[in-house]
Amino acid sequence: MNTILMGLPGAGKGTQAEKIVATFQIPHISTGDMFRAAIANKTPLGLEAQAYINKGELVPDEVTNGIVKERLSQDDTKKGFLLDGYPRTLDQAHALEKTLSDLGRHLDVVLNIEVDEQLLMDRLTGRIICRKCGATYHTLNNPPKEANVCDRCGESDFYQRDDDKPETVKNRIAINTKQSAPILDFYAEKGLLRNVDGSRDIKDVFTDIEKLLKNLPQ
Ligand code: AP5
Ligand code: MG
Ligand code: ZN
Repeated sequence: MNTILMGLPGAGKGTQAEKIVATFQIPHISTGDMFRAAIANKTPLGLEAQAYINKGELVPDEVTNGIVKERLSQDDTKKGFLLDGYPRTLDQAHALEKTLSDLGRHLDVVLNIEVDEQLLMDRLTGRIICRKCGATYHTLNNPPKEANVCDRCGESDFYQRDDDKPETVKNRIAINTKQSAPILDFYAEKGLLRNVDGSRDIKDVFTDIEKLLKNLPQ
């Protein structure tokens, strides 16, 4: 199952991706997570990406296309993959077509999580992430079961993303709204786009996604 997960910042891509990859046993490929890991490790890629990310701007296409191509060339993606946050420009969508055709693969579905813009700001400014394992929570909507203890790994060290400051969030939402419209049209024309109402509870959104993925034409 070769899948793309789209949605504006805070739509719930990462949250739903965790559940999708656990259920369908496919690798989760998040360009945002890859950049954040590179920044944490102070690699050349991280140093280049950091300035863009901290301003809420997109990392240049040639950099992003290169890391995705490299990742999709790894063997574990042969059984399927879930792309989260890529493609994010029409140029990236075209580059992905080329990469997949070079690898003899094709996309099965593009899921687009739709959420009203006013909800996004609340979701991002309340997001906390476990430093040890990367599990994502929300202080109000989705807190850990036991206060300040990660459900997944038991650690108590949470952080907020540098790009979740309100002024950066505004910029991210504006840029992504503009860039995503032509990509959604591109996949709708190919008959691959499926919209999901992401304004409901996390588990209800997943119920819809799971149903959709289990009923894909083989
Ligand atoms: P990236 O990491 O992809 O960030 P994003 O697209 O801005 O999306 P987020 O990760 O912030 O949101 P999400 O949809 O994953 O929401 P989440 O599930 O965490 O990219 C970061 C940056 O990297 C970009 O700005 C850019 O600079 C660069 N970059 C990345 N990819 C790139 C590319 N392809 N090209 C160029 N540059 C690129 O949920 C958010 C919060 O809401 C959480 O607290 C969660 O608990 C809560 N929540 C989730 N679902 C629900 C629900 N249904 N109800 C209530 N609360 C919910
Ligand atoms: Mg995310
Ligand atoms: Zn954890």
